Amino acid sequence: MSDIHISDAVRYVGADDTTIDLFESQYPVPNGVSYNSYVILDEKIAVMDTVDRRATAQWLENLETVLDGRKPDYLVIQHLEPDHAGSIGLLAERYPEMVLVGNAKTFTMLPKFFPGDYAARSLTVKEGDTLSLGSHTLTFVTAPMVHWPEVMVSYESSEKILFSADAFGTFGALSVGEDWLCEARRYYINIVGKYGVQVQALLKKAAGLDIQTICPLHGPVLRGDLGFYLGKYDLWSRYEAEEDGVLVAYASIHGNTAQAAKRMAEILEAKGCAKVEVMDLCRVDQALAVEAAFRYGRMVAMSATYDGGLFPAMDHFMAHLRDKTYRSRRVALVENGSWAPSAAKHMRAYLEAMKEIAICETVHTIQGAVKDADLAAMERIADELLA
Ligand code: FEO
Repeated sequence: MSDIHISDAVRYVGADDTTIDLFESQYPVPNGVSYNSYVILDEKIAVMDTVDRRATAQWLENLETVLDGRKPDYLVIQHLEPDHAGSIGLLAERYPEMVLVGNAKTFTMLPKFFPGDYAARSLTVKEGDTLSLGSHTLTFVTAPMVHWPEVMVSYESSEKILFSADAFGTFGALSVGEDWLCEARRYYINIVGKYGVQVQALLKKAAGLDIQTICPLHGPVLRGDLGFYLGKYDLWSRYEAEEDGVLVAYASIHGNTAQAAKRMAEILEAKGCAKVEVMDLCRVDQALAVEAAFRYGRMVAMSATYDGGLFPAMDHFMAHLRDKTYRSRRVALVENGSWAPSAAKHMRAYLEAMKEIAICETVHTIQGAVKDADLAAMERIADELLA
C-alpha cells in the first residue's frame, strides 16, 4: 500500500494501476494512474469511494488492513464512473450492513451499473447535508458535471479535508511521483475541460470552506499552498491562456508541411515570441496537443489537404478542441495542397463554430514544398498573429 499519510483517522487505501495502456481507452498514461480511495475511522467508519475493477484486489487488501477486523458503516459514493465505482457491488456484498451514501442522481444511476436492490440500505443526501461519524462530520456538496451529473464532493470539518472527486486529480501512479502541474493540466483539460462553468460553480462553493487538505480520486493528496492548485483550476475553468506563447500544430503527409511548421516556429522566435511549441499531430498524444492549445493564447494550425478535406490527424485535433470547448484564442491557418487545397476551409469551419476564436485574416496556401513566397506569407501571418 502507498505510504501516504493523511492522519491517524483518515487513511489512504487506494491503488496504483501501472499496467493500464490507455485511461478511458483513449489517453496514454505511460506512468499509469492511481485510483484513490480513503477510509475515515471513527465511532462509525466511512469508505470514500471504491476503485476500478482492475485494482480491486489490491484495494481490498489495503482496506482490510486499515479496517483491522472492523466493518465499514458507510460507503460514500461521490462519483459513479467505473474507475471509482467499479468495486461497489463487491464491497456491498461483502458488508451487507454497510449503508450506501449518495445523492438522488447517484441512486438513479447506480442500477445501470449494479442491478442489485440497494434501496433498503441507501442514504440519500442533498446539498449541505451532514453525516456524523463521531468526531468527524462530512458535509456533502454537489458538483454536477465535474465530471458526471451525479458527482458530489465531501468536506470533513474536523480535519478540514475536501474529498474532491475527480477535481484536482492527475494522471500518473503515485509510486512514480510525477510533477503535479503537467499531468494535472493534461487530465483537467481532457477530462473536465468541457465543464468550465460547472468547475467555476464548485470553486465558488469551495471558497466558503476552510480547506487544509484536498483528497482527490486520482493523483497526490494536496496540502501546503492550496492557493496554487485552486488558482490553476480557476484559470483553466475560465479558459484563460496560462502562458504567453504559440502552439504550432501541424499535420504533414510527406514532410513539406512539417518543414513549413519548423520555419514558422523560427519566424515566430525571430520576432521575439516568448515561447513556441511545435507539435506533429500525427505522432504526438492528441491529449498533449489539446493541453498545449489551451495552455497558450495563440496557435498556428497547419495541415495538408487529404481526400478533399483535412488530413486525419488535424481533423481529430480540431474535433477534440471543439469537444473540449476551446475558446478565446487567436489562431492562424496555413494549408498545403498541390491540387484543390481545402484544408484551411475545413479548419475555419471548426474554429468558427467555437466561441471567441479570432482567425487571422491572412490564410496561406502552400503548394508542395516551401518556397520563398511561402516564407514571406508566413512572415505576414506571424506579424498578424503576434499583433
Ligand atoms: Fe476518475 Fe470521472 O472518473
